[in-house]
This record gives sequence, C-alpha cells and structure tokens, in this order.
Amino acid sequence: MIHTRICDLLGITHPIVLGGMGTATSAPLVAAVSNGGGLGTLGTGTASFAGDRLESEIAAIRERTDKPFGINHLLFAIQEESFRVTLRARPAVVAFAWARLDQELREYFKRAHDAGSKVMYMAGEVSLAVEAVEAGADVIVAQGTEAGGHVGWMASMPLVPMIVKAVAPHPVLSAGGIADGRGLAAALALGAEGVLVGTRFMATPEAPIHANFKQAIVRSDGHDTVLTEIPDIASGRVWPGAMARAQRNKFIERWAGREWALRQHVREAGQAALEARRAGDVDNASILFGQDAGLIDSVRPVGEIIESMVSEAEEIIKGRLNRLVQNPRGH
Ligand SMILES: Cc1cc2nc3c(=O)[nH]c(=O)nc-3n(C[C@H](O)[C@H](O)[C@H](O)COP(=O)(O)O)c2cc1C
Repeated sequence: MIHTRICDLLGITHPIVLGGMGTATSAPLVAAVSNGGGLGTLGTGTASFAGDRLESEIAAIRERTDKPFGINHLLFAIQEESFRVTLRARPAVVAFAWARLDQELREYFKRAHDAGSKVMYMAGEVSLAVEAVEAGADVIVAQGTEAGGHVGWMASMPLVPMIVKAVAPHPVLSAGGIADGRGLAAALALGAEGVLVGTRFMATPEAPIHANFKQAIVRSDGHDTVLTEIPDIASGRVWPGAMARAQRNKFIERWAGREWALRQHVREAGQAALEARRAGDVDNASILFGQDAGLIDSVRPVGEIIESMVSEAEEIIKGRLNRLVQNPRGH
C-alpha cells in the first residue's frame, strides 16, 4: 500500500486523482475512480454540465458512491451559476485550472473553503503555483507539457521538483504522462504526493467518450500528438496561456499553418468538428490526449487500472529501486 499526505488530506486510499476533464468525465467515471480508492473529479469545463445538468450529474455521482470526489472549474470561463451549484454540493475538493493572469484567485478559493471543500489548483509554471498557494490553495497540481488537453511548455521532470520546492510544505500532484505504476513511482521520486491522471482513465469502459476515441488512444504510439491552437480556434474559445495537446489527425493537418483560414471558416469548421465528435469520426474530430497514450494498449476498467498502478509502483519501490541501493562494499 502506498500512503502519502494527500491520502489523509483528501480522505482517499490511493494517491491517484482523476483529472476533471470537461466532456471526458461523467458520473460513472468519477464514481468508479472514487470507489477504486482514488479521487474522482467531474469536469465542468464545457457547457454540457452547466446549471441544472451539473446538479443532476452530482446527484448521479452520489447515487454511485459515498466516497470523496471533486468538481473542476476552468477559471477563465467560470460560470457563476455552475460554481454556486458546486458550492451547494460541498464536494471534498473544488479543483481549478487556467485562470487569466488578471483574475483574482483568493475570492474563489475562499468561497470553496467556506463550503467545506479543499482547493486544488493546476499550474504548468512555478510562478502560477506560488500565486495559487498565496491565494490559499491546499494542493497544487504540477502539469507537464506531455499531458493531454490544455498544457503549458514545461516538462514534468523539471517542473514537478521545482514546484514541490517552491510551494513546500503544500502537497503537489504530478500530472501528465502518467499511465501506470512506473509513472506513479517516478512522480513520488520527484517529490510529488501523488498523481493526477487523464488519458489513462479515458481508455476505460466507464469514460463517456466515443468508443472510437478510446481505440485511438489504444492505437496511438504516443508520438502522434502535437501542441496546437486549432481545436480552440475551431471551438471559438481563447484559452489563456495554453496550447492543446491533440492527436495529429486529418482535422489538424487540414488547418496546420493555415490558422488564418480556419478563423475565416470558423463556423462551418467548428460545426463539422462537433459533428465528427458526436459520430466518433477519428479523422475529423479534435481528439485531445497525452503522450502517455503510447503506454496504453487496451481499454481496461478503472478499478483494475488503479489496483495495478499501485501494486506496480510498490513493486518498483520495494523491489527494483531498493535493490539498486548498495552499501560501499556492495552488500
Ligand atoms: C480531453 C481532456 C480534457 C481536459 N479538460 C480539463 C479541464 O476541463 N480542466 C482541467 O483542469 N484539466 C483538464 N484536462 C487536463 C487533465 O486534468 C490532466 O492535467 C491531464 O489529462 C494529465 O495528463 P495525462 O492526460 O497525460 O494523464 C483535460 C485533459 C484531457 C485529455
């Protein structure tokens, strides 16, 4: 069993958190992660879970689990109505990400604390992590550029220890590129108290994305993603300080280097991408996932993923790494 401070702080058994990924999360996935001993997190980053729909999705999580879970809000696009629904629900964690630089964090964090929730903030740069801790965040997620979805420029290997040091003693979760026990063990070695996982949990029966997109993750060797603004231009949403890590498919190739033309045709192109997403058309939809897709070779249930992640990390730490440490005489 791997037990860290984050387990006590959030009331969870394993130091594994589901990233609150907009349309890629829903009650069954969130509850499965929480029931598996991690922390499930519902993303509200799209219109799909605004207001009433958010309320019923939270109720659906509570029908499936009595374990702690989180609710994620994108700060630059936060909707007051949805945020109030979150606060009324008093989840164990309110997770935030992607504030505008001029946005005041303190008030949002205070409202979450007043509701009895812990505050988690995702940062891809040291200065943003420090700012969040100064504003009252309890947990920082250090997100490396290898992650799926919207990301910054820094890779996890340098970013995680830098953030751990800068925000100490606040606990840090490592996000990006983690799909198995090797990633969990590496994150702990970098000083993180646990991991936040997105792509691996998308390739599960519980995830609400089209089966074809799960297979796209399984087929990917991890080398076929790019950092691009094309998905955001097509959806008409300017994301502050981020690029999207997406699969380099026909949709991306059609517009790469011709972003100006995409802006000109944004309505038709955006609509076509939306329809492609509904139809599970892997060539013409924007498909966001991380480089760790190269570590994922099958769709597996959430419970199995968590169990094997923990047992593999344990084996690496107690077995292989432990055996590498020798005294000077080699005993
Ligand atoms: C499709 C998709 C949507 C995402 N949406 C959000 C979001 O709305 N809010 C958020 O904080 N993070 C979001 N993320 C980022 C995840 O929380 C997490 O940082 C990332 O998935 C970790 O990297 P990994 O995919 O390599 O595990 C998203 C990621 C993906 C793949």
